Amino acid sequence: MEERKNVYGVVLAGGVGARMGNVEKPKQFMEVAGKPILILVLEKFVIHPGFDKVLVLSPKQWMRYTEDLIRKYIPQKDNVAVIEGGSTRNETIMNSIRYLEQEQLLDEETVIVTHDSVRPFVTHRIIEENIMAAQEYGACDTVIPATDTIVQSVSHEVISDIPDRSIMYQGQTPQSFKAKKLKRVYESLTAEEKEILTDACKIFVIKGEDVRLVQGEVYNIKITYPYDLKVAESLIC
Ligand code: CTP
Repeated sequence: MEERKNVYGVVLAGGVGARMGNVEKPKQFMEVAGKPILILVLEKFVIHPGFDKVLVLSPKQWMRYTEDLIRKYIPQKDNVAVIEGGSTRNETIMNSIRYLEQEQLLDEETVIVTHDSVRPFVTHRIIEENIMAAQEYGACDTVIPATDTIVQSVSHEVISDIPDRSIMYQGQTPQSFKAKKLKRVYESLTAEEKEILTDACKIFVIKGEDVRLVQGEVYNIKITYPYDLKVAESLIC
């Protein structure tokens, strides 16, 4: 039997893609270069040797559809489990941890590499460095240095601040964690905090826990708007 690595890929496909507009299916199921975006992401994850299993979190009504896609496109389908997503992105992540707990796969060292199902250009290196950083430091975020100057406006009318660009980064995914620790920190939040803290790394940050940086790639884009689909098509060719 293969040695247990205690590392799980967690592909977050529980959203509806409202900003993509009125399309008949969530954006993760739309096609780029003839394949569903979710499948492009899964191909990167199942081929990586660092995972025991890859979990795909999907909206309840799309679970069967997700399973069918995996059967069709992913030869290593036995290493993939489809699980119900949650009402928010963080709740979706928590469902992955609850699954590991139910399957008795969760201990203090268990690492999850959480990744947007709509970032198909993640690389082997980024995944590798996420696994190592989460194992060593407990949490990490994938970022690139900010290219544009960041302008802050609290009023949305006039500038309140222009932070020093040299210390600004743009967040991407994966974001990776020791899963048990993330669960503990998340459960310590009030309902109000849970509402505001939409970024999983921010949960660690406000609780005073270190989150290491992993270098992302400019092309590791998230497909959010119809425009991004065109960019993705051109990147893949
Ligand atoms: N996500 C999730 N569970 C949720 C909400 C989002 O797994 N309850 C996932 C999405 O499927 C996506 C990723 O989180 O892969 C990044 O979120 P975002 O781009 O905001 O996706 P959506 O919430 O689907 O998009 P929108 O905000 O336009 O509705």
